Amino acid sequence: MNQVNKTEKTFALTTPLYYVNDLPHIGSAYTTIAADAVVRFQRLLGRRALLITGTDEHGQKIQRTAESKGRSPQSFSDEMSLGFVSLWKLLDIQYDRFIRTTSPRHELIVKEFFERVWKSGDIYQGQQKGWYCVSCEEFKEERELLEGHRCPIHTNKEVEWRGEQNYFFRLSKYQTQLQALYASRPDFIQPTSRRNEVLNFVEGGLQDFSISRINVDWGFPVPSDPNHTLYVWFDALLGYVTALLEPEDEPTLENATAKWWPVNLHLIGKDILRFHAVYWPAMLMSGGLPLPDRVFGHGFLTKNGQKMGKSLGNTLDPVALVGRYGSDAVRYYFLKEIEFGKDGDFNESRFINILNADLANDLGNLLNRTLNMVKKYCAGNLPSIANDDISSDHPLKSIGLHLGEQVRNAYEALAFNQACEAVLLLVQVSNKFIDEQAPWSLYKQGKQQAVEQVLYAVLESVRLAAYLLSPIIPSISSDIYQQLGFGINFNEQIKTSIAAPFSIHGTWGVLSAQQKLGEPKPIFKRIELPKND
Ligand code: MSP
Repeated sequence: MNQVNKTEKTFALTTPLYYVNDLPHIGSAYTTIAADAVVRFQRLLGRRALLITGTDEHGQKIQRTAESKGRSPQSFSDEMSLGFVSLWKLLDIQYDRFIRTTSPRHELIVKEFFERVWKSGDIYQGQQKGWYCVSCEEFKEERELLEGHRCPIHTNKEVEWRGEQNYFFRLSKYQTQLQALYASRPDFIQPTSRRNEVLNFVEGGLQDFSISRINVDWGFPVPSDPNHTLYVWFDALLGYVTALLEPEDEPTLENATAKWWPVNLHLIGKDILRFHAVYWPAMLMSGGLPLPDRVFGHGFLTKNGQKMGKSLGNTLDPVALVGRYGSDAVRYYFLKEIEFGKDGDFNESRFINILNADLANDLGNLLNRTLNMVKKYCAGNLPSIANDDISSDHPLKSIGLHLGEQVRNAYEALAFNQACEAVLLLVQVSNKFIDEQAPWSLYKQGKQQAVEQVLYAVLESVRLAAYLLSPIIPSISSDIYQQLGFGINFNEQIKTSIAAPFSIHGTWGVLSAQQKLGEPKPIFKRIELPKND
């Protein structure tokens, strides 16, 4: 039995549960790639880690899309949901749970939670009046709207007027408790710009929000009044909890929250910050459940400054992108190139240039030429150098000794670009080092020991770089480890993190002469720029 105790040694995180109104686009892939890098890094640290993802399948947006295609919402959701599963496979996402909000077990969890909130006296009937954006599944304030009553996020969509009897959740009751939460746990909402946004919003005064609809069939019935369906967000957020049920568990809140709740991190985009940092904690307080540790809201992938999305029709197809460039390339570009938390534009020439510079040239060539030199100058055997023979002020070792810690801090702060840059620096210094040391001329001068020291130091630096980048480029790292003579598939090793724990592999000086080097093969092929660019 996989018993888990919530201790320092576990880490659970969630991606948003994606709407199934369409197949996934690059924006959905972005959050998931980042989440996967986090979970893989946690596994390197030796923690038991759980990545939760899934699909959000109820509500008017899905209902309307399915109807417009002459499909039932259920069969349409079934098909779209599979699109996410297969993209995650293509992108090498190591998720542990995939929750679909239409699952019967989820309905029971939602029902039980609703009853708790009802008992807390936080649900009442009232008149809802306001502007609704179906694409956001959210009411908007009049002052937020663009000209022509258009949504500020889905700028080509007009909001719709709603005036109906709904059930409301008493959010206003939690104003003081929420403010106390933000004050006592400054890290609860990250990054700081997002935290400030939420603080301002809450300071402006919280209004109760409606949690039921009367003209939408596609949702769970409100337990106390089946003429209403539950608002899609009320049900969707609880998907995070349902996902924690073990297959053999009875679907109760007690079982679902016994092992992994509260989760350590909700990773989301900035458009759904209010739901996660205001509504959700208040719902949890009302339902008597502990709050997650942290909510991180990343920025948007944009095209010409506008959020990429299906509603605007300006997206990039992740399946085509992975097909053309491979999964590691896509993962690397988005995590290295865009500061996590800020918006970032996609540009194909830049994409190609970065991959060529970092992965093909700096990292790939370094490994390849060094392995070839080992073949030529050391009969293909890894030089027998003891780590202690190299002094700690050696130009590569001196960087390598501190790199693990630095990169660990970057991953923990979700600063993936900083992690990449720090590793790349070691790779660049290694390239410079080999050029300056010129082992080919040392060899000619008969300085075998010096040759071996140089080659060892460079290979060890490549190894460390591959290890520290493995949460981002797992396949390339795995190939590098194999060429360096680590027998079992590295991907498997880091998954269990038994064979390659951070405490050993995260520092400099791991390669040993016992290792039998593999055949040098390019780990990343240079991409040619499309002709018309
Ligand atoms: N179903 C809700 C989430 C419910 S969570 C209990 C939802 N789904 S979504 O499919 O519309 O969006 C999911 C995530 O994808 C959000 O975090 C959103 O920010 C992210 N992205 C969608 N388009 C994006 C970009 N263009 N760029 C970056 N991320 C964006 O909201």
